Amino acid sequence: MESNTTKIALITGGLGGIGLTLTKALSEAGYQVVAGCRPNSSNAEKHAGELAQSHPSVKVLPFEISNFDECQRVVLDIEETMGPISVLVNNAGITWDGQLKKMSAEQWHSVINTNLDSVFNLSRAVIPSMIDRGYGRIISISSINGEKGQFGQANYAAAKAGMYGFTKSLAQEVASKGITVNTISPGYIETDMIRAIKEEIRESIRQQIPVKRFGQPEEIARAVLFLADENAGFITGSNLSINGGQYM
Ligand code: CAA
Repeated sequence: MESNTTKIALITGGLGGIGLTLTKALSEAGYQVVAGCRPNSSNAEKHAGELAQSHPSVKVLPFEISNFDECQRVVLDIEETMGPISVLVNNAGITWDGQLKKMSAEQWHSVINTNLDSVFNLSRAVIPSMIDRGYGRIISISSINGEKGQFGQANYAAAKAGMYGFTKSLAQEVASKGITVNTISPGYIETDMIRAIKEEIRESIRQQIPVKRFGQPEEIARAVLFLADENAGFITGSNLSINGGQYM
């Protein structure tokens, strides 16, 4: 068995609301983490310095995940300079909420490109070498709203639901190659994305959660580590809902 210290984990949105916690957790579990972020991301300015102190082995890498060629280039570069990628966490996601009757084409495409095209772009880039090595873990962070839909999120819910079909298809294609492909569907987790929702709407959502609180990023990180583990090889094509009972 390889130890985690020899394993490279690439995470998209690795400095964001849930992503920063995932980056730290993977690093603390011994992975060499490459944390992707948007080119010119304000998060890079905000967190890269602190991360360099607290988790010096984490490499912060700005690149555009909605661009197929850029994803190919970035993955090749990591493989050549650091080694093969064992774990891919498709975590990056944006919202641009609005009712469909008011939704622009830009609002639709920008959410689909960032949240779903990126899953294809990066999975497509890492899968050949995972197949060659006979090992890999692909974990995509979907959402409760991909499972149940959400008023004002036709774009986001479509992208997140798309991850399930993608995951179950790819899981079948690579199951015999030692590669597992799964989704995690967080409910409302206490991050800036949730804080951006209007106060009264946010409170009404909180009331719909049986545990009566929002989740914490650490509660998602535990699941990522679990699915990334070598011993999780029998779990593939599945989805883990972590939502405080809001959708069962
Ligand atoms: N179901 C049914 N009707 C609803 C509704 C709902 N959930 N929410 C609002 N409405 C109704 C309102 O009552 C109102 O009706 P009237 O016109 O008859 O009074 C009408 O829809 C317009 O409501 P808004 O004022 O809210 O409309 P808006 O256009 O200003 O705002 C919105 C729309 C931006 C989508 C806003 O409703 C909103 O922010 N909703 C929350 C969306 C949400 O949950 N986003 C999740 C973000 S976090 C995330 O995505 C992470 C994750 O994975 C969980």
